[in-house]
Amino acid sequence: KRLAILASGSGSNAEKIMEYFQHSDKAEIALIASNKPDAFVLERAKKFDVPTFTFSRKEMDAGILLEKLQAETIDWVILAGFLLKIPDHLTQAYSDKMVNIHPALLPKYGGKGMYGSFVHEAVKAAGDTDTGITIHLVNEHYDEGKIIFQASTPISPLDTADTIADKVHALEHEHFPRVVGELVGA
Ligand code: GRF
Repeated sequence: KRLAILASGSGSNAEKIMEYFQHSDKAEIALIASNKPDAFVLERAKKFDVPTFTFSRKEMDAGILLEKLQAETIDWVILAGFLLKIPDHLTQAYSDKMVNIHPALLPKYGGKGMYGSFVHEAVKAAGDTDTGITIHLVNEHYDEGKIIFQASTPISPLDTADTIADKVHALEHEHFPRVVGELVGA
């Protein structure tokens, strides 16, 4: 199985996934693609000798990203901190073969713009006593695809958006690579 990871930022999840599949003979991370030419995730790809590809939102919407994924015979697309909405032609081409991680317990705190610290601020402001991660298939509606996996962690009023983010990142790193492995059969 050939997997591509789409990421817009640091790529700590992408790194954990590359590590996880490094010695697998059933799946490989064949491409790291980003809409940000300076995203640190591209540096992380170099460390693992994974080919990279950068594109603009315009190019993605024009089908350039889909062309690249097909040229690389990608079977699965993993969104790991990818901040653009995936165009319908892409979700349709990778129907049930595209997975995303969201840093909250969907359906709570989902939807456009609800990512990164915004989510953790909202969880804290709501006084929630737990938060967590949701790994789900991607469809045409933001953060509404079939939920594959969720994990939660307790939080208290003493937590800040930053300490909540740290707890959520720890859950992501602990679970995302294995859940992807189970999904793709590797
Ligand atoms: C993660 O919190 C993920 O849930 C969200 O974006 C963040 C990506 O972090 N979608 P990183 O770039 O993998 O470090």
